Amino acid sequence: RGPTRITQDLAGRRVVVSAGGTREPLDPVRFLGNRSSGRQGVAVAEAARARGASVVLVAAHLEVPVPAGIEVVQVSTALELQVAVTAAMSGADVVIMAAAVADYRPAEVRNEKIKKEEQGDTLSLELVRNPDILAGLAEARAPGLVLVGFAAETERDDARLLDLGRAKALRKGTDLLVLNRVGWNEGFATESNEVIVLDATGDKVVEASGSKSSVANGILDIVASLLVRDSR
Ligand code: CTP
Ligand code: CA
Repeated sequence: RGPTRITQDLAGRRVVVSAGGTREPLDPVRFLGNRSSGRQGVAVAEAARARGASVVLVAAHLEVPVPAGIEVVQVSTALELQVAVTAAMSGADVVIMAAAVADYRPAEVRNEKIKKEEQGDTLSLELVRNPDILAGLAEARAPGLVLVGFAAETERDDARLLDLGRAKALRKGTDLLVLNRVGWNEGFATESNEVIVLDATGDKVVEASGSKSSVANGILDIVASLLVRDSR
């Protein structure tokens, strides 16, 4: 698959993509974050645009620029991302949750810097669970909307990785789950990627690897086939 793609199989479709990593504030100068660069999500948004879709990108702290022709909604925290994606979902044909969403946020956000003198040698933080945005979208979505999640797993064993992916696909209620192995040296801030796409029952549909752009197009091929089936 070359870099130029003439198929406009997403023409007239509205596609919402979340990308990047959320940040949960602790005090005015500190946050809890994660290592997502936003590269894979931005590549999905760019590929969808190139295939003719009108694209809204809900962006949390991207480390890469957003290509022209894509509407961007900037967010920071998981709760902000939830509001933005939920709003963008109405009227959308496809929602792709590529963002790394913080599972927990500090129970309390201080108005002033946390000071060492007041803490001593250790500091414990109380965290509370963030809502599962993707599972919420699965429950609230209109019929026909194609919902795609991502799953980042550190499991090394191939069979166990697939088991985790299958369980997550079923738990989330997505049409497609893009399973991604991550680690200290893979998945983040890299130019290439290797994923397994699972269907709603957790079965493997396809594997895609290569540049994040070609992985994006591999995912969108399946998305497009689901849309075609729906409109018949
Ligand atoms: N996700 C979400 N809201 C959250 C956490 C995750 O919408 N609070 C979405 C992510 O955007 C991704 C998918 O759920 O599309 C899976 O994220 P992942 O972190 O792999 O799964 P979790 O359900 O959070 O499970 P865990 O981190 O415990 O493996
Ligand atoms: Ca998580």
